[in-house]
Amino acid sequence: MTLAIVTGAARGIGAAIVDALLADGTASHVAALDLDIDGVDAGPNVSLHVCDVTDEEQVRAVVASLGEQATVLVNNAGGGKPHPERTEELPFDPFGAVDLWRESVDLNLTSAHVVTRVVGPGMPSGSAICNTASIAGLMANQLFAYGAAKAGLIHWTKSMALALATRGIRVNAVAPGFVYTRLWQQMLPSREMFEAMVGAAVPMADEQTPAQIADAVAFLCSGRAAQVTGQVIAIDGGSMLGRPR
Ligand SMILES: NC(=O)c1ccc[n+]([C@@H]2O[C@H](COP(=O)([O-])OP(=O)(O)OC[C@H]3O[C@@H](n4cnc5c(N)ncnc54)[C@H](O)[C@@H]3O)[C@@H](O)[C@H]2O)c1
Repeated sequence: MTLAIVTGAARGIGAAIVDALLADGTASHVAALDLDIDGVDAGPNVSLHVCDVTDEEQVRAVVASLGEQATVLVNNAGGGKPHPERTEELPFDPFGAVDLWRESVDLNLTSAHVVTRVVGPGMPSGSAICNTASIAGLMANQLFAYGAAKAGLIHWTKSMALALATRGIRVNAVAPGFVYTRLWQQMLPSREMFEAMVGAAVPMADEQTPAQIADAVAFLCSGRAAQVTGQVIAIDGGSMLGRPR
């Protein structure tokens, strides 16, 4: 029996990661941690846990309840909360409010430390950790706090990879580009706007799917990547190469 813990796993990319880890045989069962599991059914070999991953006490309680050590940890929870009552302070404001900045860094960077601090010390040699970063953490963009947090997550991924290598634990990251999940649904008023953005920004002229991101995560967490650590794989249709002509 091999246990994987996946955060932000109730929907979107996280839910696809759960499926991919099970399909790949990298995990025989998965603990899916998420703040909001309303209307979500756990599939076979998946246990769903309500948990705010920015809160160490909640994370400790859930992890203690699992009763076994995880050999795979995917720090995937991230994104942001909509603030419909504060439309003047959308994440696109370069001089945005400090509490929204802190909230974003807490969710997109600090939560990975919180969960890894709880799960990591018990992980045996041969284990793997994968963090969901973003291309927003690899280049300048207009999501200021989010981009800074994801850049921090990429840097931390490398530092952790170096620190944990001698314990036989690998640490990698994926950097998705444009995946139409609740994250974008909350940020943009329409799907058409998302498609226009993809057309302007993605050389391969297509959006990415949760399953495509999950495939890369499953690879990085599997024995096939036994010599891969400290790496960031962008799954972005070439967006990091520059603008399409
Ligand atoms: N969708 C994209 O285009 C894209 C691009 C780059 C990176 N990402 C990253 O991918 C990851 C997954 O995002 P997604 O696109 O699937 O979005 P999503 O909104 O569909 O899923 C995010 C999940 O995280 C959960 N979550 C949020 N805060 C939490 C908390 N404090 N504790 C526990 N769970 C929490 C949400 O309830 C949700 O289920 C995020 O880290 C996001 O930043 C997404």
